[in-house]
Amino acid sequence: LVEACAARLDRALALEELEAARVEFLGRKGQLAAVMSRLPGLDPDARREAGKAANAVKERLTALYDARLADLNRAAMDVALAGFDPTVPGYAPAAGSLHPVTLVTAEICKALEELGFSIVTGPEIETDYYNFEALNMPPEHPARDMQDTLYISDSIVLRTHTSPLQIRTMLARKPPVAVIAPGKVYRRDSDLTHTPMFHQIEGLLVDEGVSMADLRGTLTAFVRRIFGPKTNVRFRPSFFPFTEPSAEVDISCVLCGGKGSTAAGPCRVCKGTGFVEILGCGMVDPNVFDAVGYDTERYTGFAFGMGVERVTMLKYGIGDLRMFFENDIRFLSQF
Ligand code: PHE
Repeated sequence: LVEACAARLDRALALEELEAARVEFLGRKGQLAAVMSRLPGLDPDARREAGKAANAVKERLTALYDARLADLNRAAMDVALAGFDPTVPGYAPAAGSLHPVTLVTAEICKALEELGFSIVTGPEIETDYYNFEALNMPPEHPARDMQDTLYISDSIVLRTHTSPLQIRTMLARKPPVAVIAPGKVYRRDSDLTHTPMFHQIEGLLVDEGVSMADLRGTLTAFVRRIFGPKTNVRFRPSFFPFTEPSAEVDISCVLCGGKGSTAAGPCRVCKGTGFVEILGCGMVDPNVFDAVGYDTERYTGFAFGMGVERVTMLKYGIGDLRMFFENDIRFLSQF
C-alpha cells in the first residue's frame, strides 16, 4: 500500500491529482480505510498486531502526502514568482489631495478657533426670514433683488450669504457668543469672477462692551495668521443692511507688500494701490438684535464675512476663479 501510494503521489503533478490520491488512499472510503474495516473480524491478538501495522502505514502515508503537498506548493510559488524581481520599485498609487478651498476653509477656521471662535453650521436652503428679513432687509430692500437671489419659492431661497447663521445662533444662544460659520452660498451670477455657488465664512461676536477696536484687532490678528505677520489692514466705509457702521477691509497687497509696484512695474495684483479687498464687516445693527431679542442697551457686537475662493486666490496667487471648479488634477494636486 505504501509503495503504491508513494508511486501515485510521485505522479501527481497538480494539486487536484494530489487530492485525488489522498482520497483514494487516505479518504474515508479509501484503501487504508478498507483494510482497517476488516480489523474487527480478526481474533484479539491478530487484531492488535494488524492494528499497529495499519496505524504505522497510516502515519507513513500521511507523511508522504504532506511532503508531496509541500513540494507542489513550493513549485507553484516558484512559477508565480518566476520573472518577478522584488527589488524593482513599485508604482506609487495616485493619492488624492484636499481641494484648495477645503484647505483654506480649514486654515481660516483654525486661525479663528485659536482666537476663541467656535464653528456653527446651518442649511443652504434658507427661509426669506433668516436670509433677509431678520437681517434688516425688509421685503422691498434692493439686496433681495431677483437678479442675485436663487429662489426656491416665494419665501424659500438658496442662502445668498452665511449671515443667516448670525440669526440662527443668536436665537439659540444667550450672549456672549463668538462663532464662525463656514459654508456654501449661492447667487444668480456667472462670469469670469463670479460662480453661482461659492464659499463664505461668517464671524459673529456679541458681548457687553464690544467695540469697533475689537473688530479691528481681531481681524488684524486673523489676517496676520493667514497672510503673514507683516500684513496690515485698512478699513473703508461701506454699507450692509445688518451692520452699522459697516466697513470693507483691505489687506496690504500679498504680492507687493503694500508698495504698489514690483521690479516688473506697477503691481498686477493690487493694480498699484498697495491694497486688496478681503472681507466685509461692521458692528451688528441694533435692528438685528431686536429681531433676535437681544438687549440693545446691554450688548454690542461685530460681524464679518469673507469669500473663501477670494482668500484662496490671494493666498496662492491664483488668477482665475474657474480653476476651482474645473476639476483639473494638474491644478488640484498642487495644494
Ligand atoms: N454677508 C455679507 C456679504 O455676503 C458680508 C458681511 C458679513 C458683511 C457680515 C458684514 C457682516 O457680502
